[in-house]
Amino acid sequence: MRALVTGATSGIGLAIAAELALRGTDLVIVARDKNRLDSVAARLANYSGVTVETLAADLLDDAGIAAVISRLQDADSVVDMLVNNAGIGLPPGGFLGNDIDTSRRLTSLNVDAVMRLSHAALPAMIRRGRGGLLTVASIAAFTPGTPAITYSASKAWAVAFGEGLNTLLRSTGVHSTVVAPGFVRSEFHSRSGVATAGIPERLWLTPEQVAIAAVNAFARNTPLVVPGAIWRTGFAIGSRLPRPWLRAGFAALMSRTSSPRTGSSSAAPSIQTEGTV
Ligand SMILES: NC(=O)c1ccc[n+]([C@@H]2O[C@H](COP(=O)([O-])OP(=O)(O)OC[C@H]3O[C@@H](n4cnc5c(N)ncnc54)[C@H](OP(=O)(O)O)[C@@H]3O)[C@@H](O)[C@H]2O)c1
Repeated sequence: MRALVTGATSGIGLAIAAELALRGTDLVIVARDKNRLDSVAARLANYSGVTVETLAADLLDDAGIAAVISRLQDADSVVDMLVNNAGIGLPPGGFLGNDIDTSRRLTSLNVDAVMRLSHAALPAMIRRGRGGLLTVASIAAFTPGTPAITYSASKAWAVAFGEGLNTLLRSTGVHSTVVAPGFVRSEFHSRSGVATAGIPERLWLTPEQVAIAAVNAFARNTPLVVPGAIWRTGFAIGSRLPRPWLRAGFAALMSRTSSPRTGSSSAAPSIQTEGTV
């Protein structure tokens, strides 16, 4: 079995790649930084013995998408599993406090790239009757009302997409699983300049916790998995709450975080900063 993992040099993607490698899965790892890819590939191959290829590609770029599609469709070296993991959050200020290009880059990576790579990978998987997609969404998919609404919306799209595919693919032998984590220790928040100091320690997951839950769920073809007991409980309660209560509760949690940055010049002064998940 071979998996192609996007965003595999850090955080959740790296942990999923490592978990798959431990289970004997060969890898194609994708990210932009070539040096970092090479060093991660050497470490993964060393500790697991699997074959690890690197593919340096920017998924915000048509040429990068084309290179990954070409690798996904290489009939001489089949990719059985696509892990749609690479994603970015919104800087402080959320949707209204950043320029529109910031949100467009976000939806390009979190939505468009996922859709394009999945559409390219699925026909051969369906023909072979095995393999599938593991898509990294977020608990933010279920939390409307925070300032980072384009991020939440992109992850709601990922949930609808991956869960919907699970139903569409039911008779094909091809799996589709979506993982929706809460706060995870990675480079995600520092990359978008979001401070996380106010987030309670008990709400943090490790990338490894997420990876084990995700890879197990993919093996069972579970449509949607929320890693971590506290987040699973919160999700179960939240999905039964009236929507106004849910919005108010999550906005209160988000307002406990603060940021050293102020967002772009178009930021409305009253917009709070937030720790996206
Ligand atoms: N951390 C959280 O709290 C959290 C919670 C829920 C969901 N998530 C989701 O989990 C996923 C992974 O996030 P993470 O926390 O592991 O973040 P991370 O530590 O920042 O890792 C991001 C990875 O994606 C790659 N990447 C970024 N932009 C890219 C691009 N344009 N083209 C190709 N690769 C790109 C990065 O490598 P290069 O920079 O070298 O390209 C890196 O390997 C995201 O979809 C995120 O939305 C995160």
